[in-house]
Amino acid sequence: MTNDAGAHLPIEVRALRHSYGEREVLCGLDLTVAPGEIYALLGGNGAGKSTTLSALLGFIVPSAGSVRVGGIDPAADPAMARAQLAYVPESVALYDHLSARENLDYFLSLARAQRSRKTVVEPALDAVGLPHHAWNQRVGGFSKGMRQKVAIALALARHVPVLLLDEPTSGLDPRATMEFNRLIETARDRKVAILMVTHDLLSAVDVANRIGFLSAGRIEEELAAGDGAARFDLNALHARYTGTRAAA
Ligand SMILES: Nc1ncnc2c1ncn2[C@@H]1O[C@H](COP(=O)(O)OP(=O)(O)OP(=O)(O)O)[C@@H](O)[C@H]1O
Ligand SMILES: [Mg+2]
Repeated sequence: MTNDAGAHLPIEVRALRHSYGEREVLCGLDLTVAPGEIYALLGGNGAGKSTTLSALLGFIVPSAGSVRVGGIDPAADPAMARAQLAYVPESVALYDHLSARENLDYFLSLARAQRSRKTVVEPALDAVGLPHHAWNQRVGGFSKGMRQKVAIALALARHVPVLLLDEPTSGLDPRATMEFNRLIETARDRKVAILMVTHDLLSAVDVANRIGFLSAGRIEEELAAGDGAARFDLNALHARYTGTRAAA
């Protein structure tokens, strides 16, 4: 086993390289996320953001470098690494014919996690703000925002140290996006390390502690949040992202 969690941050990527065939997509990627931190990973289409998540999930085996999730190498022990994390893809996979409560109960049983209704499932559904009347409804009729709430509730109920999000706010309306941002702050308050791949600059500026730009296979630039209202300069970020000049 490769668990030496004590010496590691929850998410650690060092000098990661990965190629699909001849094409090198990641070439020397360094990225860490600490407990209670939200890291927004930005980058153009095809930059390698989802590939980075795939490496953390153990879906690909990097050609060089090291990856650790909760101290575990996902390439060596994918099941153990996945036990440390919750992954929320753009469209959340749930059992549509089951209710929100039943989905949580089922996925917690798969994860062999505690699943007491009163002390685990209901507090998690409460924490994510899923309205009580929806708890027993089939999730097949849920909006994207509600499905994400169920997915985050599952992450909270499993007490995982790592949350991976791939374009979570794409297709959410502004209000649902704001709710989602507050939701991942709840996870951050519980000391979860959160890596959010996104094209949504507003969201990144709203919640991230750090923002990294992935380009040419590595983090080309990394920004840390400032204080108060001037956490990040949205104009400058937009200009950086689009290769245009910032508005004066
Ligand atoms: N399984 C695969 N086989 C071959 N090439 C792949 C595979 N998955 C991704 N790629 C290529 O690797 C590059 C990076 O893909 P990736 O999905 O990581 O980008 P991304 O940053 O997530 O982009 P997007 O913003 O469009 O989601 C792209 O050029 C893509 O076509
Ligand atoms: Mg992607």
